[in-house]
Amino acid sequence: MASLTIRKLDEGVKTYLRLRSAKNHRSVEEEVRVILRELIEGREEPLTPFAVPPAASTAPVSQRTGALPEASVTLIIGGGIAAFKSLDLIRRLKERRIEVRCVLTKAAQQFVTPLSVSALSHERVYTDLFDPQSEFDAGHIRLARDCDLIVVAPATADLMAKMANGHADDLASAILLATNRKVLLAPAMNPLMWNNAATRRNVALLQRDGVVLIGPNSGEMAEAGEAGIGRMSEAIEIAAATERLLRPPVPRPLAGKRVLITAGPTHEPIDPVRYIANRSSGKQGFAIAAAAQAAGAEVILVSGPVDLGDPQGVTVKHVESARQMLEQVQAALPADIAIFAAAVADWRVANEGEQKLKKTSAGMPPLQLVENPDILATISKLTDKRPPLVIGFAAETEHLIDNAKSKLARKGCDWIVANDVSPATGVMGGDRNTVHLISRRDGEIAVDSWPAMTKEQVAIELVAHVARSVTDKSLESAS
Ligand code: C5P
Repeated sequence: MASLTIRKLDEGVKTYLRLRSAKNHRSVEEEVRVILRELIEGREEPLTPFAVPPAASTAPVSQRTGALPEASVTLIIGGGIAAFKSLDLIRRLKERRIEVRCVLTKAAQQFVTPLSVSALSHERVYTDLFDPQSEFDAGHIRLARDCDLIVVAPATADLMAKMANGHADDLASAILLATNRKVLLAPAMNPLMWNNAATRRNVALLQRDGVVLIGPNSGEMAEAGEAGIGRMSEAIEIAAATERLLRPPVPRPLAGKRVLITAGPTHEPIDPVRYIANRSSGKQGFAIAAAAQAAGAEVILVSGPVDLGDPQGVTVKHVESARQMLEQVQAALPADIAIFAAAVADWRVANEGEQKLKKTSAGMPPLQLVENPDILATISKLTDKRPPLVIGFAAETEHLIDNAKSKLARKGCDWIVANDVSPATGVMGGDRNTVHLISRRDGEIAVDSWPAMTKEQVAIELVAHVARSVTDKSLESAS
């Protein structure tokens, strides 16, 4: 494999990498790895620090990089009798799809061997700060940062004292000083050591610095006849605490809200085998349905004929024509939010053939078109069951913003998501979209232009806007 030297990159690239890695709290090397992984998975973060929902940018590396909920931990094993429980901890972390790289202090090696730790973790074990093999590329910095979390189990009184006072005279303490990751300590020591004023001071300092502690529990000590607070938490408790820190509950800002979405084209029959259609793929509407579902909403998706699987956890009503779509939309009311992303055919054939139309010597069959119901306008103008937030889409090939602004007024909706669908943009059927959010703000029409993004990112951003607006409104009505 080719190796990449960051120092030799263009200044512009280096600056971009430095800013992006600082923003994401990663090392530059790790950021390059994330960029490459996203590229392979076809997902790229926007180049500008565009406002993605806050949880996304601070989540662990592994949560940001795709569906697989893998994570990685650097486990520092301190020197105490409880070190034997760390062997079980490795197994329990791996069961939870958490990669574990282990560091053993000198004292820890009196209790467990690097060989058994490496056999369980399936990784090489690190023991020395001055190990030429791993330190030639600043190995302690990598162990400190190329992970989502650092776990110290057992955290001895000595290790905690070193950490609280910023010592870095061995590999474990150097990692703890060099890390920008969250640290979880599982203390284990004799009750007298735990209650000693020095340890109490160190614990208070560490907690003030944001270090998280699990345990210690109370119980019998290894020393005969001694009991009290100081037993290391069980491996299963430490694994659960690790998982809580790595995979915090996802915020569900639309919990309790019902979101109605239309998507895809409509097919307007000419006769039993022919129809009028358009090139809409339904991808944007489906992505919005998935994002709203992920945000905790109950989602009803009314979809025209598309080639996409139903999003998980979403109620999907499949329809063909505009009139069927309107019927299903009306049946789905009431809703808190309605998003009309479908490319509904404006016209249908009035004289739809009951049988397949035949070529005759009389020439072409005369097709009479009549206007379809406008679903967006119909729902926006309801007086009783109008959803409090109605969002339409404007797919235009010219005068995008002007047309979208007049559509906002004409249709009576609250927001319009405008996008240019000229063939050159590749939006219709493609995976990316450049949109402008048009809304009314303080009596004026505001235009918020977003950078080019994947349709999934547009969906996440739109749902984040919806969630903020819904939250602001409930704050307003509460005050
Ligand atoms: O008028 P135009 O088709 O450009 O308006 C687009 C917006 O109106 C989209 O939100 C679309 O879903 C909605 N629409 C509708 N029913 C129609 C036509 C458009 O809901 N018959």
